[in-house]
Amino acid sequence: MTTVLKGNIVSATALGKLEITENGYMVLEDGVITGIHDRLPEAYAHAPLEDYGDCLILQSFADMHFHAPQYAMQGMGFDLPLLEWLEKYAFPTEARYLDIGFAREVYSRLAREMVQNGTTRMCVFSTLHRPATLVLMEELEKAGAVAYVGKVNMDRNSPDFLRETTEGAKTETLRWLDECSRFRNVKPMITPRFTPSCTDELMTFLGKLVQERNLPVQSHLSENRAEMNWVRRLHPDCQQYWETYAKFGLWTDRTLMAHCVWCDERERKAIREAGVTMVHCGASNNNILSGTAPVRQMLDEGIKVVLGNDVGAGDSLQGFDLVADSVRASKTKHVQDGWTTPFLTVAEGWYLGTTAGAEFFGAGKGFAVGDALHAIVLDDSRLLTPRDLTVQERFERSIYRRQNDAIRAVWSEGRKVVG
Ligand code: GUN
Ligand code: FE
Repeated sequence: MTTVLKGNIVSATALGKLEITENGYMVLEDGVITGIHDRLPEAYAHAPLEDYGDCLILQSFADMHFHAPQYAMQGMGFDLPLLEWLEKYAFPTEARYLDIGFAREVYSRLAREMVQNGTTRMCVFSTLHRPATLVLMEELEKAGAVAYVGKVNMDRNSPDFLRETTEGAKTETLRWLDECSRFRNVKPMITPRFTPSCTDELMTFLGKLVQERNLPVQSHLSENRAEMNWVRRLHPDCQQYWETYAKFGLWTDRTLMAHCVWCDERERKAIREAGVTMVHCGASNNNILSGTAPVRQMLDEGIKVVLGNDVGAGDSLQGFDLVADSVRASKTKHVQDGWTTPFLTVAEGWYLGTTAGAEFFGAGKGFAVGDALHAIVLDDSRLLTPRDLTVQERFERSIYRRQNDAIRAVWSEGRKVVG
């Protein structure tokens, strides 16, 4: 079936490059983009039209790292650094997801909020609980999201109430993988919480699974100095943190590593050479005192960078904040570096929060022909907007200005899921 969308169409087709079609037309066949046009081609004159008037039609967001269970404590304990924050806030909260009813209540709200805010693609940590992880997957699918979800693995260095046995982690992971086949747009991702949480035996098992079944991986890397020192003590045979993943087969071109705040040149080279994707979490790095990642420099070095809110250490579920926070963090770094290093422009931040993440899911750049549509329709008319603003200026303001209820529609995987 043909559908035509009309509005001001903006997309990021390369790092720093926006493609803007004012009062343009986007043609969909069964939800798949077949073209973007200045004028409506004659052939579609009678096709059903979604006329969004003067609204902005933007790419939806890809949020590539957050902890769904921590939504219940989002914003708490930000006076503590990572390891203390995990012990005092994150672990006790995550233990509650043994209760499937609690999981349903939290995850249904979270999934709806993410999609209503315009995030349609995401990579998510659950908890170590298999049943609650399946609930999270169900709720994401129901809300219309496209997602990778990980049952978290952790068999050491956490309190008794949030730790698996090594055998338990293995059997529950295998059973969970079998049960994932019932989902259409939500897929499993292998998730060792981070090196301190997993024994060598469990890491070996997970790495084998990744290699045998060609599964994607997500975890944490070089987020915090105390964490890194701890990893060094746990793996004296490894010179650097990344090697503790690489030696078990968890370091592939389908691996996401969150944070990478303190990766030095050698570690960054290992990231680039393996094609590992770095997930930058600007707000979280600030909130729990981790530091400021050299994002712009990493891009210059040829590293794949995407963005994540890292809830509960992140304070927002808004994709607009995801983008703005990355730009802010890069400016902090720029100033710290004595104004010598480049920072992210708004267009670059936008690319990281949309196209770069979408590519991990196999999508093309911007609104690419042949891709199922993932988009937000934004009505910015309630902002006091001087009449002579260009579409690009309106787009830039929309990233920084909080606009409640401005999202008029959200499309995910070719379907209108909001509006
Ligand atoms: N490292 C290991 N677990 C976590 C977590 O839950 N949040 C963050 N920010 N870092 C982690
Ligand atoms: Fe995290």
